[in-house]
Amino acid sequence: MSQPTVQQPATPTLTRSPAWRALTTHRASLAHATIGKLFADDPDRAARFSLEAAGLYLDYSKNLVTAETLELLCALARETGVEERRRAMFAGERINTTEDRAVLHVALRERSAMPIRVDGKDVVPEVSAVLAKMRRFTDAVRDGIWRGYTGRAITDVVNIGIGGSDLGPRMVCEALKPYAHEALTMHFVSNVDGADIAEVLRSVDPETTLFVVASKTFTTRETLVNAQTARAWLVASGAPEAAVAKHFVAVSTNTQTVVRFGIDPENMFGFWDWVGGRYSLWSAIGLPIALAIGMDAFEAMLGGAHAMDRHFVDAPLAENLPVLLALIGIWHINFFGATSHLIAPYDRYLHRLPAYLQQLDMESNGKSVTLAGERVDYATGPVIWGEPGTNGQHAFFQLLHQGTALIPADFIACIQPHHALDAHHEILLANCFAQSEALMNGSPAANEPHRNFDGNRPTNTICLDKLDPASLGALLALYEHKVFVQGAIWNINSFDQWGVELGKRLAVTIEREVAHDVAHDVAQPDAALAHDSSTNGLIDRFRQRRKQQSASAN
Ligand code: F6P
Repeated sequence: MSQPTVQQPATPTLTRSPAWRALTTHRASLAHATIGKLFADDPDRAARFSLEAAGLYLDYSKNLVTAETLELLCALARETGVEERRRAMFAGERINTTEDRAVLHVALRERSAMPIRVDGKDVVPEVSAVLAKMRRFTDAVRDGIWRGYTGRAITDVVNIGIGGSDLGPRMVCEALKPYAHEALTMHFVSNVDGADIAEVLRSVDPETTLFVVASKTFTTRETLVNAQTARAWLVASGAPEAAVAKHFVAVSTNTQTVVRFGIDPENMFGFWDWVGGRYSLWSAIGLPIALAIGMDAFEAMLGGAHAMDRHFVDAPLAENLPVLLALIGIWHINFFGATSHLIAPYDRYLHRLPAYLQQLDMESNGKSVTLAGERVDYATGPVIWGEPGTNGQHAFFQLLHQGTALIPADFIACIQPHHALDAHHEILLANCFAQSEALMNGSPAANEPHRNFDGNRPTNTICLDKLDPASLGALLALYEHKVFVQGAIWNINSFDQWGVELGKRLAVTIEREVAHDVAHDVAQPDAALAHDSSTNGLIDRFRQRRKQQSASAN
């Protein structure tokens, strides 16, 4: 009797490809190699394994890679169609297949008149029009021409947004603080935790505060709740309803909902569905950045990113900064089992960079099915984490040096600081360079195991001459394209984020179950709960304890 045919799920072909197999063999041949030995064997190694482009210098010599490793990794990139995918992205093709969208954040920083088309339509003129509107508005606010409802100039800007509508602008405003307008203080509210907005509202004056409500969809619960709270606060302070027009602007792709919220469409800055949230700081989502540093500096940042875009498109794979960063990452993740990647900026102004890169990388490449929907049989995006140096050295670097996990790291150093404290800067960078040296060379102590450092721990070092709008733009575009290349090799969709939907959906149900009165749209506040026993127990505990707390408060 013939057996029924069992439908085997399709498996991706990546790990069976010639380039992957060659890399597996090559990896085995390096079993006894060390990075330190590669240096000992090649006095010119640093020069041969470093590269400069768009104002950034990348030293990738402190990785366990040889010329052959890089050749094989480039072959992998070619075999997996990285160049074709790059072409498709820049051509405005709908490479975000699960959302049926083009991916064109690069069009936001196209500084030439070269057309970039989506469905046959050149989008560059629309991008320029929004930039011009941003310039008119930000100039007016910065020059004290745009005033609050009592005629006083704006002193505080509060950006209300979350995820890509928060992390990018917040990180850049911190990074470029030395370029910021002295009379404008920037604030960021993202969390639905009331403490977030309460703390900001406590510190600002309704007459001189401008709220930027930033949401691509304008449906994000956290942002809308915070925006309603801000609006109610303004009106409760004695401002007439008409004051909302002077104190609220919106950045969104959703005009209808913005209008329904009560924001004048004249005060709305648009962008497009082909700009992903985590790639949106170059669009009007960057309005707080432009308010802080002015449009000239904002455009200089776009220029820096564009220079990196050109390099990414034009440079051969083996001389291409984002490609190399991506390939070295793949080498560590897929052939050495690294599961996380440290970002260590040795610059206080970059202290929000790791948080920004977490969303960029983890929301993009935290996927486990291919574009065709097959489950992958290889690792994809790593955990991204980090803190500025030297703080990290006195906290978690112990594990980097002597722990059991292999954690590749990117060190980021800026040669010229934004202060005159030269001695501080020399100590800072000395530590930066010492750490990658120590991680590579280690320090053998055969008879003192607790003092033994194995070394052979991989790092990249990225140097900026100075952290300014252009170099920051190039740095961010470098990481965007690195994420892109890795996603292309893993054959995943780096541009959707279905993984965040389930939790959002469940929270809507539980929100009703924990709400404490009918005013919060609750028919039966204590209705039976139908979750698992843990979730039921937590909801129930919250309800009971809250009842007790409010009874004892009355
Ligand atoms: O929940 C994830 C997410 O969709 C992110 O991708 C996005 O950056 C964020 O929420 C905010 O979305 P929006 O700008 O539409 O409010």
